[in-house]
Amino acid sequence: MTDADIKKGLAGVVVDYTAVSKVNPDTNSLLYRGYPVQELAATQPVEAVAYLLWYGELPSDDQLAEFVAEERAHRGLDENVKQAIDLLPLEAHPMDIVRTAVSVFGASDPAAFDISRESDLGKARRLFAKLPAIVAYDQRRRRGQEPVEPRDDLDYAHNFLWMTFGEEADPIVAAAFSVSMILYAEHSFNASTFTARVITSTMADLYSAVVGAIGALKGPLHGGANEAVMHTLDEIGGAANVGPWLDEALAEKRKIMGFGHRVYKKGDSRVPTMKAALATLVDHYDARDLADLYNELESEFVARKGIYPNLDYPSGPAYHLMGFDTLTFTPLFVAARVVGWTAHIIEQTASNALIRPLSAYNGPDERHIEGYVADA
Ligand code: ACO
Repeated sequence: MTDADIKKGLAGVVVDYTAVSKVNPDTNSLLYRGYPVQELAATQPVEAVAYLLWYGELPSDDQLAEFVAEERAHRGLDENVKQAIDLLPLEAHPMDIVRTAVSVFGASDPAAFDISRESDLGKARRLFAKLPAIVAYDQRRRRGQEPVEPRDDLDYAHNFLWMTFGEEADPIVAAAFSVSMILYAEHSFNASTFTARVITSTMADLYSAVVGAIGALKGPLHGGANEAVMHTLDEIGGAANVGPWLDEALAEKRKIMGFGHRVYKKGDSRVPTMKAALATLVDHYDARDLADLYNELESEFVARKGIYPNLDYPSGPAYHLMGFDTLTFTPLFVAARVVGWTAHIIEQTASNALIRPLSAYNGPDERHIEGYVADA
């Protein structure tokens, strides 16, 4: 085996087929079950996109109505999940809270070990319905606010914002939020989805795979980047500081969060759509200073390094303007990506092969315990 045989980070390695989504960096496109994500974001509610990712087709009116009614019926936070969250320190990272909450929810499901397609689809739908309550409860708890009960007269996006902030969202804000949830819902074999597929390949249950995926998403090289983007913008402080700040950051060889992508090298297909949604929020909140800082960092960094923004770059400031705590940004990603994860878990189970790659050993040569004599 030579160095050329080692595919560090599995870069460029194709490990399986998927019918869930197609990322094409050459044409800068992302298709969910064949539909361009931009078209879905412009025309569909989050619920219909979730249905599409799980079932392969957009729902008919009747199918959507049935799915929406079920989603609304499952929105409340279960008492044992609430109790488990309350046991955790207020200083705990929200990703740890969400990971624990999903684990508790799964451990309480008597059908957890049933990995049939029907059972897993039911679990996926319930997780999709529950996660907004978990994320909203966590942010409110940290702020010392009472939880807000879900409303079944509101769609997914409006209800999510209602449970988080306790007031009805402006349609502009809800529309931008909905776009972000759709763009975050799925992205082929990214690190967290692949984690979910690895766990599923051992025939472990869906909840174990989702909990593992949440762990993988937490890191700043993946989902944690949307939180990290906001810390960066806060640290820079204003557009005028971008140049000197970048000089220092690049001299220290720091990674600039929200830029770069393993697959897209000419720009992330989701960014223009999210950037347009961010622009509506900038107008709505009259957030010129933040927009100037955002644009200045983008143009300076692209000019200097030729590395383009990824989805986390516009979504971070968008969530900030909507009023979410910076620590809540990655849990929002979880609430959206749970759809993609579970679609992949179901696909993996349907044509499973244990995922078990090889490694090249580079440790000490064979050696022996002094004085040890093997039994004859
Ligand atoms: N800031 C500074 N330099 C960067 C950045 C960045 N954001 N991204 C890549 N580079 C540089 C690397 O330092 C490296 O330079 P070198 O060849 O001189 O050593 C080169 O570009 C290649 O970078 P890698 O990290 O090796 O490329 P890879 O494909 O493994 O990285 C990754 C992709 C991890 C996303 C990287 O671009 C990064 O760390 N970005 C910042 C974190 C981030 O925004 N993550 C979100 C990903 S998208 C998502 O989860 C929605």
